This record gives sequence, structure tokens and C-alpha cells, in this order.
Amino acid sequence: MTPVPDTAPASGQGSPDDVLSVRNLDVTVGGRTLVEDVDFTIRAGERVGLIGESGSGKSLTALSVMGLLPEGLRATGSVRLAGVGHDLVGADEARMSRVRGKEIAMVFQEPMTALNPTMKVGRQIAEVLLIHRTRPDRASARAAAVELLAQVGLPDPATAADAYPHQFSGGQRQRVVLAIALANDPALLVCDEPTTALDVTVQARVLDLIVRGVQDRRSAMLFITHDLAVVATACERVMVMYGGRLVESGPVQEVFTRPRHRYTQGLIGASDLTAVDDRGRLVTIGGSVPPAGQFPAGCVFRNRCTQATEACATRPDWISTGPDSGYACFHPVPESGAPGTGTPAIQEAGRG
Ligand SMILES: Nc1ncnc2c1ncn2[C@@H]1O[C@H](COP(=O)(O)OP(=O)(O)OP(=O)(O)O)[C@@H](O)[C@H]1O
Ligand code: SF4
Ligand SMILES: [Mg+2]
Repeated sequence: MTPVPDTAPASGQGSPDDVLSVRNLDVTVGGRTLVEDVDFTIRAGERVGLIGESGSGKSLTALSVMGLLPEGLRATGSVRLAGVGHDLVGADEARMSRVRGKEIAMVFQEPMTALNPTMKVGRQIAEVLLIHRTRPDRASARAAAVELLAQVGLPDPATAADAYPHQFSGGQRQRVVLAIALANDPALLVCDEPTTALDVTVQARVLDLIVRGVQDRRSAMLFITHDLAVVATACERVMVMYGGRLVESGPVQEVFTRPRHRYTQGLIGASDLTAVDDRGRLVTIGGSVPPAGQFPAGCVFRNRCTQATEACATRPDWISTGPDSGYACFHPVPESGAPGTGTPAIQEAGRG
């Protein structure tokens, strides 16, 4: 069954406010499906979190949007960006490089992967302004670069512009990457664990700069993180991914206080180190994430879910009621339900 897009109107035509529309996205390698039937929409200026355990497919989803999948992986489906006349899935590198760094930009976990170690950072920022013709000449691009370095809070930005990446700390490098990403006022900023590799003392400040940067530009944001508290601070909506599929999405407050899918409930329970079940045990999600391509048929969470029954071997229906949507869990979390974690009820073969 094909999921219905979570924020699109019933017609499926999308709304003029949509910045990003991802439809039926699959990512495969060899005969294995790593991401399956992913559908979502991000509206102009909307900040959306993407959460899920390691290996659930978050980065591959983001890389598909950016046209940056690793060699050998293939995306199918559709990724449309407002104002771009072609589908990003299947677009050649020449087309993607006109979009990347202009309409969409990305901040990765490790800043050095995005920086050229042999070029002064001011020059690197100026380059993205000149390549996309946002500034007419080197002098104005240089001035804009210094201004961007000031916006991301680097002290003495004119001097910083003449330094090389190795002369900065990790947190400062990530600020430089953010300055590059925001340089052309992208309609969408994609962040994949942008603060995870940083010293804890600077994580909050960098997060604050990211949120302020997108708010000032009215850019939308897709923010991947393991940290639910960060989603609660930075995002308006959250999408939950597991087994290469989106299992739930909705306004942050609603999903975090009234999760509908047992996987979401387990994730929320596991993020709270004070949460205990009815027998006083610390809440964690029982079992481990199966290898890619070996998730159970039906509900992907079935082999770890304490509530699983035979009905869960059938793929649950995707339900959509405006921005609040997800798979209709066969045994939804009761309003005041106990955490659905612990020993799996059913152990099944993978879907292959
Ligand atoms: N180049 C690749 N070749 C084969 N399998 C891959 C490749 N890249 C990722 N995978 C697999 O695809 C699945 C999803 O990977 P992905 O990196 O999207 O997970 P993630 O949700 O971002 O996890 P994490 O939180 O650890 O970053 C994983 O099982 C991973 O092993
Ligand atoms: S009760 Fe069934 S459908 Fe709901 S999360 Fe558990 S296995 Fe999936
Ligand atoms: Mg990842």
C-alpha cells in the first residue's frame, strides 16, 4: 500500500506552501531495500525533526533529497523542490549542483567533510556566492562572507575570513559550515546530527545559531537527531523513522505526549532515563534493530513489540488527518498507556 502524503491535501496535488515534497521514496542497493515508501512534505519556513534509532534510514533519506547518495545506492520515487522545474530523483550532477548550495543546503555531523582544508574560509563562503551568482564580484562576495561569519558568531570575522579550517575549533568550523550553508538563503536547510560531534559545551550555542539562521531567512529545515530534547526545542513537527519507513509524524507536542505507534512510544520511553515500566524496570526498547533488508513483513517493529499479534503481520494502513499522520498501529498506545517495551511477543523471519 502506498502511504498518503502526510501534509498534502486529499487531492495529493500538494500545496503552494510546500517547499519539499517527497513521494514514494525507495533507496535500494543490490536486491536490498534500505528506505521504503517514504512520503512527506515540508512547508515554507517549517522546522521538521527526523528521529529514529541508528540504521533506521534517516541519513539515506536526507542524502536522497540532496542527490548525494553513496556510490551503488539507487533512489526511486520523487523529490520535488518548490521553484525547481525538475525532479531531484534521477537529476544529473550538473542540475543538482545548480540546486545544491542555493535552494537546498546541508550541514553534516563532521564539519571537515564540508570544508576545503587548503582554502581560507572567507574564500570558501565567497565561492558559493559567486558560483550561484548571488553576488556580482569578488569584493562584494568577500564583504558578504565577513558579514555571514559575524552572523554565526565568530569573533573578529574579518580576521577569521583569512584563516584556514585547521585554525578553528570543531564548534567554530561548524559555524563556518553553517555560514556557507546559509549564504544563499536556501529555501531548505538539511541538518544531519550537526552538533553530535561537538563538545557538549558548544552544542546548544550552535543549535541556537542554526535555528536563528533559518528563522531569520524564513527557510524550512529538516533536522536529523537522536536527541528528542533538541527536536522539542528546535522543531515544530517531528517524523519518526524505523526500518527504512516513516512510522509516525505530527506536531512535536502531540507526538511526544500522545504517541500513536508503539515504536514512537518506545523511543520516547528510552530517551527518558527516569522512565520505568509497571514493574519498576528502566524503559528501553527491547531487542535490536535488524540488519537492513531484514525487517519483518507487516509492521516493521513487530519482532520487538510487546503488543504484537498475528494482525501485525499485515502491513498497517497509513492514516492521514492533516499534519498528524502515521501507520495505524493495530494496538495503539492508550492515552495513559504503559510503555510498550520489553520481551518481543513474536519473533519472525525477515521480509528479505
Ligand atoms: N553505502 C551503503 N551500502 C549499503 N548499506 C548502507 C549504505 N549506507 C547505509 N546503509 C544501510 O542503510 C541503513 C540505513 O542507514 P542510514 O545511514 O540512513 O541510517 P541512520 O538512520 O542515518 O543511522 P544513524 O543514526 O546511525 O546515522 C543501515 O542499515 C545502513 O547499514
Ligand atoms: S502493536 Fe502491531 S502494529 Fe502496533 S507497533 Fe506493535 S507490532 Fe506494530
Ligand atoms: Mg545517519
